[in-house]
Amino acid sequence: MTTPALDSVYRFIDEHRPEFEADLVELLRIPSVSADSRFAPDVRRAAQWLMDHLEDMGLPTELIETPGYPIVYAETLPVAGAPVALVYGHYDVQPPDPLDQWTSPPFEPAVRDGNLYARGATDDKGQMLTHVKSVQAWLAERKELPLQVKFLIEGEEEVGSAHLEHFLADNVEKLACDCVVISDTAQFARGVPAITYGLRGIAYYEIHLQGPSHDLHSGVFGGAVANPAVVLSKILAALVSDEGRIQVPEFYKDVVPLTDREREEFRRLPFDEQEFQAQLDVDGLSGEAGFSTLERRWARPSCDINGIWGGYQGEGAKTVLPGRASAKVSFRLVPDQDPEKVTASLRTFLESLIPPGIRMELIDFHGAPGIAMPLGSPFLEAAADAIHSGFGARPVFIREGGSIPIVNTFAEKLAAEVLLLGWGQNDDNLHAPNEKFSLADFRCGIRASAALWKSLADVKQESRK
Ligand code: BES
Ligand code: MN
Ligand code: MN
Repeated sequence: MTTPALDSVYRFIDEHRPEFEADLVELLRIPSVSADSRFAPDVRRAAQWLMDHLEDMGLPTELIETPGYPIVYAETLPVAGAPVALVYGHYDVQPPDPLDQWTSPPFEPAVRDGNLYARGATDDKGQMLTHVKSVQAWLAERKELPLQVKFLIEGEEEVGSAHLEHFLADNVEKLACDCVVISDTAQFARGVPAITYGLRGIAYYEIHLQGPSHDLHSGVFGGAVANPAVVLSKILAALVSDEGRIQVPEFYKDVVPLTDREREEFRRLPFDEQEFQAQLDVDGLSGEAGFSTLERRWARPSCDINGIWGGYQGEGAKTVLPGRASAKVSFRLVPDQDPEKVTASLRTFLESLIPPGIRMELIDFHGAPGIAMPLGSPFLEAAADAIHSGFGARPVFIREGGSIPIVNTFAEKLAAEVLLLGWGQNDDNLHAPNEKFSLADFRCGIRASAALWKSLADVKQESRK
């Protein structure tokens, strides 16, 4: 479905491949870790880099301050009669720890076997930049785009997008659009690109248990005073049953069950359980009884301990009854679970488990509901055509287990359709050591994005909602 215009844009993309990759490398060198305040100047430097980059492309660009990290906004010219696309992405990245497990340093991008290794390579700098580069290519080759593109790139996605939520509520007109384009998910597999129509939500907590005001000799006091680390282990173990069911009362009350139709669709996807297992280097899988691996990952809630500490961590044995023990715990949520209701039920449940001598502090970090979007709209079809053109294969329609907190707000506040077009791979090691992005996927992503502007512009006005 290419046209002479798109062909020339594709040619430009291939001719400028080395420069585009060099630009991505430059951005990846900036350690924009939003969760760790030691990196604050670097997070700002990444925002400024993007600003300069979009400005150099000739776009009017704004650095919008928030009480946290700035939002970068830019737009191309309006095109009469054509829809408007809003590109959302994030320039912040996850902490690179554990550092000793990286083959090459996280902020010194390195190419091995056609993959670019660096923190943020796939999540989300590499994926986000595909849209910037496709716009650059259109402008360089054709001077204008077939539709207006607005860029909204934030620096707090990895810490819950709280300030963007406010900005969005106050700027509905500025951000008005027909569809939101997000590349911050993954393809289904190599050679099987995907459009994601559902994401899980999240509710994230830190639990602190305080026992005695100071550490005690476990021989002198053990057995007579509640040990916070023991109590923590018990209450954490009480969260999930042996059948993989979350034990917090009322937790499943609002869960929308999978339909037979959707279960059938999932079963039809080319998913190989053995291969999945082998990739993760585990000798078995586990989860909620009665559900397949894809169902468990995409459409059922889950509970994870993200970190757990307390007591002596040094070499050798130290006999101590620690005064304090803590854990970071998160739940993945599905439609229509409400994170605030989950917090209330969790608090009541945990309090009922705390014995005398222990005080609990439950800190609620961030929450976002899950989403499942309807299929079959003309914009989705247009996106599928663009992916076909850019990647050479038609996409499958999938849900995913990760969360992008702002997606619900886009759908609600902007009344726009959200297109989750992931260019990553499931083994790109996002949030883990040796994060990577395939340079082939970077190229195909830029191509698909370039094709998208044309195919979205061609969606007839009458068929838009
Ligand atoms: N890009 C991810 C979300 C994602 C990854 C969705 C893969 C689907 C497939 C995003 O940057 C992310 O990591 N989100 C966080 C949520 C946030 C509140 C910390 C997540 O899912 O843990
Ligand atoms: Mn991301
Ligand atoms: Mn992430």
